[in-house]
Amino acid sequence: MKILQTAQEMQSWSREQQRQAKTIGLVPTMGYLHEGHLSLVRLANEQTDVVVVSLFVNPTQFGPNEDLDAYPRDFERDRLACEAAGVEVLFAPQKRDVYAEDHTVYVTEEVLASGLCGKSRPIHFQGVLTVVAKLFHLVLPDVAVFGEKDAQQIRLIRRMVRDLNFPIRIVGGPIVREADGVAMSSRNTNLSSEARNQATVLSRTLEVVATCVEEEGITSVQELRSRADAVLATASLGELDYLEFVKDESLAPFEEELSGDVLVAIAVYFPGARLIDNRVITVPS
Ligand code: PAJ
Repeated sequence: MKILQTAQEMQSWSREQQRQAKTIGLVPTMGYLHEGHLSLVRLANEQTDVVVVSLFVNPTQFGPNEDLDAYPRDFERDRLACEAAGVEVLFAPQKRDVYAEDHTVYVTEEVLASGLCGKSRPIHFQGVLTVVAKLFHLVLPDVAVFGEKDAQQIRLIRRMVRDLNFPIRIVGGPIVREADGVAMSSRNTNLSSEARNQATVLSRTLEVVATCVEEEGITSVQELRSRADAVLATASLGELDYLEFVKDESLAPFEEELSGDVLVAIAVYFPGARLIDNRVITVPS
């Protein structure tokens, strides 16, 4: 496995693959890899000839009071995991390799990015789209794989690819969970053991909502919120950021009654980490 750091090294490697008519798969990450990330690498491997994993803790997607400095890092462990997963290139640039000191151009989306995580993290998605657009230009992939764990993120990336005509196919991978249902996340490591135990509240809330809709036929947002509140009350360390019911593709909120494909998305602040989870539910017609 090659470890590449600069834009020039990365682009020349990718151009060489293109000359050899090999298709390139990209899995963008911020490192501290877990099974969720590795499941995306496997998906990329199935669909392309060579796979690049990028590892870059992107400063522009963190707000001023967020956890950029506390974000977990372990390069050696990530390198070994990528090697074992059959990755051809680990692209691990430094900040200066990605951003000119006086950079002034960003990719902004103004509709899908405004709700859900965009409310409490106003600059987050501009940072994500900007770095992902840069990674697309640096790695020149045919296919890029993202996790459904970050439901709003993958929908925004699909929108950017469509609206800016990137010749790249976006593939989504299902959420990988721990045995107790908690969605795997690099940030889980920053939770105390008590908070980690209570972190099941996100998936438990989604499960209760899904059961109410699918088995009891409840479609009232108000009723679903009150059922969810009872579950949320069991996690004393968690503070709800949002629980939203939105249309799956447009992310437009349902105000009163659910219908069709509904993305139920939740974010909860715990001491040490803000956690997110989601589930798509189809309302029986
Ligand atoms: P990161 O949080 O490292 O996640 C990298 C990729 O792994 C994302 O596509 C994310 O959705 C996916 N992922 C994380 N946990 C997962 C899980 N439990 N199951 C399935 N997929 C999972 O997302 C980012 O980094 C950054 O915003 C990035 C896109 C790299 C831009 O900086």
